[in-house]
Amino acid sequence: MHVHRFERLWLVAALVLIVLFIGTVTYGAVGAGYGMVDATGGQVDPTAPTAGDNFREPGVYDGSERGRYDVYVEAKQFLFVPGTSEPIRVPDDSTVTFHVTSTDVVHGFEVVGTNVNTMAVPGQVATVTVEFDEPGTYGLVCNEYCGSGHHTMEGQLRVVP
Ligand code: CUA
Repeated sequence: MHVHRFERLWLVAALVLIVLFIGTVTYGAVGAGYGMVDATGGQVDPTAPTAGDNFREPGVYDGSERGRYDVYVEAKQFLFVPGTSEPIRVPDDSTVTFHVTSTDVVHGFEVVGTNVNTMAVPGQVATVTVEFDEPGTYGLVCNEYCGSGHHTMEGQLRVVP
């Protein structure tokens, strides 16, 4: 059977496209593109996250190394603890790892103006690390619709000298 040269060319092009599409979807689902929630912090009991080994009492902790801090944040309807009723305070020139979980529904945790933007999922601890060189004030916002007060769910982080 004779297949025209251009017909064959287009057949191959179509096949390549199909493979690329499937590859893109697969990569997005299981590959490195799976970045919606960073669950490297392990799992906790969502009703009592502080009871587990992976999640301390919410707050700022001095890290094992100089200039390193760990911040444990609980997201709940409709506040961050700490962050909403009082700002999270960390020194400048520091490397801060956030450990974020939720005690009710799925929330978001974004430190506006930084690369910190993760989902806060009940039972999961997301960990994100960021460096703060200069003093400043950052907003915290929830990026996942979490109920009637979603739009009011915000807080503040202060990088102090
Ligand atoms: Cu919490 Cu939206």
